[in-house]
Amino acid sequence: MSARDHIRALPKAELHLHIEGTLEPDLAFRLARRNGVELPWADEAALAKAMDFSDLQSFLDVYYQAMAALRTPADFADLMDAYLTRARADGVRHAEIFFDPQVHIGNGVAFDDVVDGLLEGWRSHTDVSGGLIMCFLRDRGPEAAADLLAAARHRAGDLIGVGLDSAEVGNPPEPFADVFAQARGLGLRAVAHAGEEGGPEYVWGALRALGAERIDHGIRVLEDDALVGELVARQVPLTVCPLSNVRLKAVAGHAAHPFPELLARGLKVTVNSDDPAYFGGYLAANFECLDDAFGLQPQTLATLCRNSIEASFAAPERQAELLAELGAAAQ
Ligand code: HPA
Ligand code: ZN
Repeated sequence: MSARDHIRALPKAELHLHIEGTLEPDLAFRLARRNGVELPWADEAALAKAMDFSDLQSFLDVYYQAMAALRTPADFADLMDAYLTRARADGVRHAEIFFDPQVHIGNGVAFDDVVDGLLEGWRSHTDVSGGLIMCFLRDRGPEAAADLLAAARHRAGDLIGVGLDSAEVGNPPEPFADVFAQARGLGLRAVAHAGEEGGPEYVWGALRALGAERIDHGIRVLEDDALVGELVARQVPLTVCPLSNVRLKAVAGHAAHPFPELLARGLKVTVNSDDPAYFGGYLAANFECLDDAFGLQPQTLATLCRNSIEASFAAPERQAELLAELGAAAQ
């Protein structure tokens, strides 16, 4: 089996994936036509051309505008179905999927329509376990986050957890402490983007103020030895997204990615795809990016897959099932 086939064959979990970031240009234009929505690009090619990003904000500007195509439960179902089909082909057997309801609500879509559609699109994918993580947009502030949680609490049973995303620098985690505490009180798990463009202080804030159980990205943690020590001691997972970091210029290029050092320091690294329609590939492509840059030994590949399963919020029985499958497939 080639290294490429081997990557796809191993069972794994995807833990950092924004469902709206799987909106491919062709689907965006198909849904926009279906809904009579005008997108700010002439056609698919123009949207694809707009994907030349200089930083996180330049990506977010395009990503939020393209989300205007998503209006009905059927749209969200089509989006989820398309993602899970692709993910399954890459060996994804468990997925914890972010969504950004504040944008949809701003577009006039009811929160329940978003959740109903996403769950409907999952229905036929019975061999991929997992669920939804509702993200607060940090640049809209803590009051807006509290409003969202109030609007979502009747569906808490349909969510795994809450996350914090969008423009990081200038929007630290601490003001979101109360809304995260409320969410945890509803039985929701807590994760947060931190250390993507922001420095180690954002990661400390996510841990201390939000009770984040995983750090999304976290590539800047290496700048703070005490932080690395804390993350290693507690084995707090990092959901690393190599293609995203390259395309948003959070790192200087593939070969400059801190992945080897993150692993060497004993951090619990997982590999994820973030916004694959925008960054050049789904989960297997992110593993291939690391393989091209650093050469992934079979044992490292198996460790990364094992980490993803152990870092997930899947029930212990499901984790054990996937770990056993991984053990057999990694032989
Ligand atoms: N960072 C912050 N916000 C996001 C991202 C990201 O990588 N993707 C979608 N929203
Ligand atoms: Zn992300």
